[in-house]
Amino acid sequence: MTDRYCVIGNPIAHSKSPQIHAAFAAETGQDIHYERCLAPLDGFADVLRTLVQQGYKGANVTVPFKLEAATLATRLTERARAAGAVNTLSFKDGEIVGDNTDGPGLVADIVRNAGFALANKRILLLGAGGAARGIMLPFIDEHPQSILVANRTRATADSLVAGFAGNGVQLAACGFDEIEGPFDIVVNATSASLADTMPPVPASAFAKGTLALDIMYGSAPSAFMNFAAGQGADTRDGLGMLVEQAAEAFTLWRGVRPGTDELLSNLRKQK
Ligand code: ATR
Repeated sequence: MTDRYCVIGNPIAHSKSPQIHAAFAAETGQDIHYERCLAPLDGFADVLRTLVQQGYKGANVTVPFKLEAATLATRLTERARAAGAVNTLSFKDGEIVGDNTDGPGLVADIVRNAGFALANKRILLLGAGGAARGIMLPFIDEHPQSILVANRTRATADSLVAGFAGNGVQLAACGFDEIEGPFDIVVNATSASLADTMPPVPASAFAKGTLALDIMYGSAPSAFMNFAAGQGADTRDGLGMLVEQAAEAFTLWRGVRPGTDELLSNLRKQK
């Protein structure tokens, strides 16, 4: 029987995940079915139970259920625990294993797709919410020189940084008005782009050759990307991260790693 998977979210109609996983399945010769699943805002746990009962093998989880998925998993991977959030569930041997492939997906996109090594680099991470939390451990594992976390609410940045201390990487927190650049890479992990605005990051954060990456993606560059480009930075949106987090989930589920280059360039043409 064809193994079934889905992506659970609310809203979910615009999710590209079914298209991405169908492409991976075709490329690797895996027989899977992957669909969208709209869960009521107060009905995520019920949906999860039903999927397990129906014999689904796993699910991706997106907004707004990533935190709830972490509490409902019967086991968490180390990176999911560090992120405090789950975007990939595997249903196996009566267990619901929660993982988080968002951060590893971002690192894969930066290192492999953009060809930008993070070792010994100065990183500025904008935002200290769920998305930023998921990025911290995968970034630290790349041995950058430093990570400065800047957030509108300074206390949230402080507590995020405190949770990752002692990893051999210089970590610090600040408010946006305290940022002193330039940085090798600036990652916008705030949700400001959803409102077509940007965090008040100073122009001095960027220099020629800085990689400015917005984890959001849309049909047009975000306000953050436009601002960074104006300062001479190289810009990148979150489409590569989306594809790479899916590739990581597919690999966990199927034990075979799909290629991503062709799919990513096809998706870029569709935008
Ligand atoms: P996500 O899961 O997308 O990270 P979140 O946990 O709600 O969502 O976090 C949103 C992040 O974007 C936070 O860092 C938030 O800053 P605060 O902690 O001060 O709320 C940040 N953010 C949202 N809108 C922003 C804006 N217009 N300017 C700057 N930062 C913003």
